[in-house]
Amino acid sequence: MSEPRQILVTSALPYANGSIHLGHMLEYIQTDMWVRFQKLRGNQCIYVCADDAHGSAIMLRAEKEGITPEQLIANVQAEHSSDFADFLVDFDNFHSTHSDENRELSELIYTRLRDAGHIATRSVTQYFDPEKGMFLADRFIKGTCPKCAAEDQYGDNCEKCGATYAPTELKNPKSAISGATPVLRDSQHFFFKLPDFQAMLQQWTRSGTLQDAVANKLAEWLDAGLQEWDISRDAPYFGFEIPGEPGKYFYVWLDAPIGYMASFKNLCARRPELDFDAFWNEGSKAELYHFIGKDIVNFHALFWPAMLEGAGLRKPTAVNVHGYLTVNGAKMSKSRGTFIKARTYLDHLQPEYLRYYYAAKLGRGVDDLDLNLEDFVQKVNSDLVGKVVNIASRCAGFIHKGNAGVMVAGDAAPELTEAFLAAAPLIAEAYEGRDFGRAMREIMALADRANAWIADKAPWSLAKQEGKQEEVQAICAQGINLFRQLVIFLKPVLPLLAADAEAFLNVAPLTWNDHQSRLENHQLNPFKALMSRIEPAKIEAMIAASKEDLLAAETQAPVGNGELAKDPLSAEIEFDTFAAVDLRVALIVKAQAVPGADKLLQLTLDIGDEQRNVLSGIKSAYPDPSQLEGRLTMMVANLKPRKMRFGVSEGMVMAAGPGGEEIYLLSPDSGAKPGQRIK
Ligand code: MSP
Ligand code: ZN
Repeated sequence: MSEPRQILVTSALPYANGSIHLGHMLEYIQTDMWVRFQKLRGNQCIYVCADDAHGSAIMLRAEKEGITPEQLIANVQAEHSSDFADFLVDFDNFHSTHSDENRELSELIYTRLRDAGHIATRSVTQYFDPEKGMFLADRFIKGTCPKCAAEDQYGDNCEKCGATYAPTELKNPKSAISGATPVLRDSQHFFFKLPDFQAMLQQWTRSGTLQDAVANKLAEWLDAGLQEWDISRDAPYFGFEIPGEPGKYFYVWLDAPIGYMASFKNLCARRPELDFDAFWNEGSKAELYHFIGKDIVNFHALFWPAMLEGAGLRKPTAVNVHGYLTVNGAKMSKSRGTFIKARTYLDHLQPEYLRYYYAAKLGRGVDDLDLNLEDFVQKVNSDLVGKVVNIASRCAGFIHKGNAGVMVAGDAAPELTEAFLAAAPLIAEAYEGRDFGRAMREIMALADRANAWIADKAPWSLAKQEGKQEEVQAICAQGINLFRQLVIFLKPVLPLLAADAEAFLNVAPLTWNDHQSRLENHQLNPFKALMSRIEPAKIEAMIAASKEDLLAAETQAPVGNGELAKDPLSAEIEFDTFAAVDLRVALIVKAQAVPGADKLLQLTLDIGDEQRNVLSGIKSAYPDPSQLEGRLTMMVANLKPRKMRFGVSEGMVMAAGPGGEEIYLLSPDSGAKPGQRIK
């Protein structure tokens, strides 16, 4: 065997202001499978990630929820960590970009770039919100499209006519944060001189580091000539202050990729055998791979290698780019219930079903990948349950009944043993090249052959005949040996199935090379079902729950769910607009769970002259709805009735808090009467 390789692997750092969904999981699952494959082969492979915790979106969301950014990112980190763990994504470290290590490394890299002359400064004129006292990123400015006059368009492009423009071209611009009219203001900005690295990038992007399609795309930008990159933002900003430049902060995308290094550095403190410099210094022999989606290629394949080169550090061995996830052939959609959060999936289905489906469909390219839910059920049931697990369940019983669970020695099907051995290098090559789909096809072809052979030998008929016991044992021992090899080949994709199979096989954790040996005169443990079929009803329940996530979020406005709110913060309104809202004291006459809905309560409200039926996404805060009965609260009584999947909602109750268990219904002082108007 050759020397074990030293490999550092990353997945993109998820933003710390939203939940993980199945689109994200396409990336984390594929990276995890590749890392597990490397570990199974005996290589030293380290997988790090972190939350991407900086930027104005996170600052504003925390402000809106009434918590500090530190609290917000701690909450989200806990949520993300458990989502990943439950999908069996086994990071060696999951850190945060808002960390001491990241601050130190960002300062180090920046000062090296500055001292080498790669930083420029110049004045930039930008819209400034005089009320909020901050410069406005394009997405925080709204106005009338200069081309088609559509109202309420964002700072740099029009959703109606598709025009792109500078925010200064918008007519009647308004701050989406405060509603104020922004003013133009100058400020000093810091730029990374990307053109200094043009020649290096031209060469590096064509040196086998990128898929061809990606290199071709980058060539378009490289040929057009690179621009300097604005890496500073003015206070207030949630991030790291630039050394020696009070009030100036690193733009989030400057310190985000450095977060890969920071997470690894944090791990090195716990794992003395890891040498940080040996991985990161120029000339390092370790391999470095980044797995990313196609939307963030320029940051990873232009800015990042240039920053590393400029700071005298090593560059990535390769950047592996994948396409986007679609569900049932279309972009994930909240209203169709196909915008599926990681947690919603896990509430209904096993993680390994999805891991296998993604593996079966992933290739080396950057094409989008479709999660077709019917195909998903069919493929998982037929391949994993019908082919792989079936081999063990067909054979185990005869060995237990006929030979006290001991596998006999001998090779009952040398041609199959040979075929399995011959396939192993091909499967390994497919994994290594991230052609998971090809690996799965090879493995399932072997499973088909094993099943066909067992069906042909039909140990179940032999078992009924006199004097055939020896043959039955030989067939079934062979079947279990083939099953064991399939489990080894599938272990990067199905680590739980592998662990359960190891328990049944009564063996130590299997490694890749174990496929070359077989079990003989070996005692098995009792067989337990290793995997059950997906019931289509579970899929329907998951879709319904995803729709409900949306309803819950909509019915609990203004409780913050950043990803749904179109406006990051509410703009100022006229008094008349306020006066048009019919706010009433309401008596909760009845409160009950809505059958089939995890998050909704059905409330019957007395507002003096009539009763209203209101559906509200507050169940997680009030698991015992009857405690609400008899209580006064406040409602918006003239909201247009909304037809929802669970009935018509005739108004909205008012509550505060970030959501989940933390929702607080508002109440009037005692003495208020149902139906009284709030003014
Ligand atoms: N924070 C940045 C990455 C910084 S890396 C130094 C970011 N975060 S993200 O949360 O928006 O995305 C994280 C990863 O998930 C990205 O690689 C992104 O391409 C990927 N995906 C997000 N949505 C996706 C799909 N619908 N489908 C496939 N991948 C997707 O970008
Ligand atoms: Zn327009």
